[in-house]
This record gives sequence, structure tokens and C-alpha cells, in this order.
Amino acid sequence: MARSRQPLIAGNWKMNGLRADALALATAVAEGVKRAGWTDREILVCPPATLLMAVAEAMKGSGVLVGGQNCHADASGAHTGDISAEMLRDASASHVIVGHSERRTDCGETDAAVRAKAEAAWRAGLLPIVCIGETLAEREAGRTLQVLETQIKGSVPAAATAAKLVVAYEPVWAIGTGKTPTVAEVAAAHAHIRKVLSGLVPDADAVRLLYGGSVKGSNAGELLAVGDVDGALIGGASLKADEFLAIAKAA
Ligand code: 13P
Repeated sequence: MARSRQPLIAGNWKMNGLRADALALATAVAEGVKRAGWTDREILVCPPATLLMAVAEAMKGSGVLVGGQNCHADASGAHTGDISAEMLRDASASHVIVGHSERRTDCGETDAAVRAKAEAAWRAGLLPIVCIGETLAEREAGRTLQVLETQIKGSVPAAATAAKLVVAYEPVWAIGTGKTPTVAEVAAAHAHIRKVLSGLVPDADAVRLLYGGSVKGSNAGELLAVGDVDGALIGGASLKADEFLAIAKAA
């Protein structure tokens, strides 16, 4: 498959980071990326919303992008504690993760809710990273590809194109566990995701598909070498600058 798809290496810091540590991490990432001088890959970090503006400031001049971890579907209004896509954009975000499995589990987000958030991202000028992935029970029942298909059809908005969409495949059982699917399993999942997208998106061949779930410096090379893997969404390892940079280097 063509490498016209620019790799995207995205760190999801989740609910981690107070200002001092987060700024030290951001500065180390910015310096590492500047030193490497990559022009053929995109590097993104998604800090907690409280740190977006400070991290964006620390990333200035490095080319590292910043994104949100979630957004509300509405632009504004009576939604105490929520953050809109417009607010993320206003705080310097270029991307937003939507439908992460932790939000699907913790907050009961449905495919329809995820789709509405992706549309909100477009409205605000953000690029949504739509997350999908099967649970261990679903994998063991042989339902992985079917689950992914249902999630894609429910979560990806109708007007999606490659320029407006990134999809992240994150098997729920691989997140934060140190377990990863085999390279063959990742290849099968990603090929199926692209096939399903080809029925929905006019230029599905150009949509970037990220793999996420226990990615680290030592396994990034083999995961990123899979034909339909166009980058990674990284949790734990994105909290260590050297690990995150090692993954970025492998892209
Ligand atoms: P880990 O890299 O910690 O497994 O987390 C993956 C993830 O959920 C990224 O969104």
C-alpha cells in the first residue's frame, strides 16, 4: 500500500500531568523532534485540557501538534464540565481524539455520540481521531472484525474523507496491559477497517489508520511496518520523552 499516507505518531497523555512535569515532558519532546528534523511524519501530543495552551506554547517552533482527548458535540451551552471542539481549537488544538474505549466504558459513549463528536470536530476545524477496538471477550468469541465494522459504520460520519478523518484501532485488551495482538492480527484488523471504510469514504485508501495498545520503543518498528498501519496512538509510553521519540523514529 502506498506510503502517500504521512505517518502520524500521537501521544495520548490521558489524565496524567501537572504543569511542571508536563512542561518538562513537552520541552523534551519538542527538543527531540527539532533535533531529529523529521519532515515526513506528523507528531501530536494530546495532554489534559488544562495543559493544552501551556503545552502548545512549549511546542512552538518544533512542529509538534497538540490535540484534545475528547469534546462535546455542541459548540457551547449548558453542559457543566464539558469542553467543546471550538474551545479546544481556541486553545491551539489541531486534532481531537473521539470515542476512546476509556470514554466508551467510563462515560457510556455510543457510536452515535462518537459520530456527533467527530462532526463537532469538523465544525471547529479539528481533525478527529476516531477510536475503535474490540474487548477480549469479543476477540475470544471470534467477533473482532464484526465489532470493528459495526463501530466504524456507527462512528464515522457520512461526509468523511481522508483529509478529515483518522481512525485508531485500539484493542481494549491491549491498552495499558503490555499485551499486543500479533503483527498478523493487526494486519487483518487494519485491512478489514480499510475495506469497511472503502464503502463509506471516497478516498479510503488515503485514510490514516493508527494502531494503539501497548506500543513502545521496542515493538514500534514491527507494528509500524504493517502495510495498513500509518502511525500509532500511544498512552503510557508517550509520558516518557525518550520512549515516545523512539516510537516516532520507528515510523
Ligand atoms: P497504552 O499505550 O498505555 O497501552 O494506551 C493506549 C491508548 O489507549 C492510547 O489511546
